[in-house]
Amino acid sequence: MELKITNIVAREVLDCRGNPTVQVDVVVNDEILGRADVPAGKSTGAHEAQEVRDGGKRFGGLGVQKAIAGVAEEIAPALRGRRVTDQRALDQALIALDGTPNKARLGANAILGVSLAAARAAAAALRVPLYKYINVNAHVLPVPLLNYINGGKHASNDLEFQEFCIFPVGAETFKEAMEIGWAVYEELRTIIIDKYGKIAANVGDEGGFAPPIVKVREALDNILLAVKRSGYEEKIVYGLDCAATHLYDPETGKYHLEGNLLSTDELLAFYKDLLKSYPIVTIEDPFSEDDVDGFVRATQELGIQIVGDDFFCTNPARIKERAALGAGNALLWKVNQIGTLSEALDAAELAYRHSFGVMVSERSGETEDPIISDLVVGINAGQIKTGAAVRGERTAKYNRLLQIEEELGSCGAYAGGNFKTPF
Ligand code: PGA
Ligand code: ZN
Repeated sequence: MELKITNIVAREVLDCRGNPTVQVDVVVNDEILGRADVPAGKSTGAHEAQEVRDGGKRFGGLGVQKAIAGVAEEIAPALRGRRVTDQRALDQALIALDGTPNKARLGANAILGVSLAAARAAAAALRVPLYKYINVNAHVLPVPLLNYINGGKHASNDLEFQEFCIFPVGAETFKEAMEIGWAVYEELRTIIIDKYGKIAANVGDEGGFAPPIVKVREALDNILLAVKRSGYEEKIVYGLDCAATHLYDPETGKYHLEGNLLSTDELLAFYKDLLKSYPIVTIEDPFSEDDVDGFVRATQELGIQIVGDDFFCTNPARIKERAALGAGNALLWKVNQIGTLSEALDAAELAYRHSFGVMVSERSGETEDPIISDLVVGINAGQIKTGAAVRGERTAKYNRLLQIEEELGSCGAYAGGNFKTPF
């Protein structure tokens, strides 16, 4: 039977910060439903695909009724009657209908909602889980990069780096990674309350604690102590997201850090020193989104995984250009940075062709939709970053991965061991 899109409906729902976002239903043959929510970033890159938001007073300008009107008035009429399993053709039609290079007219939020909901609807119509619809050989359960101390734009403290994470590469299964994660998180809660008082155990946007810390080393020392007390030291290495685009001062060309202004050279020296003290295996956005030289040097000189978030923006053109220069060796993969599923899949494929790692990522403004869990298994990426394993919009992703691990049974493989000697 032909699987045809018979209707597309978009609505305004709320993300975890309480801000409006787009939810889309794609209906196949008048009965099968695919639904997807669109997340939103806060520490965004300048080169991301553009959302459409309403402006004006309602929701402080963040409403998405214009984006939704675009789905009703333009996208739904254009896609009705088309085969839902033609993901690439559907995405190309969306890109052509929008007509701008960065999806600014109809909005990456509207377009991505339709693109993801179509994939969900197709998988539902074919009665396969989304990860299998994407890839018949999907089987890799990712190592979670658990974000336990929040700073930067995600917290109300003065810690400049955005994410301080544990990476339980030594777990045998994803389920065990969650058990380890719980033990460390609870130890860290106790340490933070003892040192900074109970108010310091409040959490930031991604569920990590947001204590009143300024120094990078102090944040790391607390996490290392928590890991030591948990008894899981042998199974855990560490990761950072410096989100350095937001530390960069364009006037001086330097980076704000701990009361100093650092050149690219000086910041690189800071990282080298950190690596002497801590078993950090992955650093995301160590330099700003257009500091290509910084990325090249970090990749050559630090000898660990250097992940580009704002730096690549999940954009195939940027990956092609910058990977060729040796800038970075891993892609942070955020579907809403590029705005359609097939372009995001192209970005991952390109990354693999350059022997890059791929880390699938949430946004700080998530909903309870766990679609990235199916996607990370679908592309066998082996790494996921979706905050601490607390708060419903984060646990939704981890819980979906627990289900997938159970579904895959002996066909599933936890990616952990692959990261014992990264790059
Ligand atoms: P964002 O942050 O979703 O606020 O952009 C996530 C990240 O920088 O990785
Ligand atoms: Zn980032």
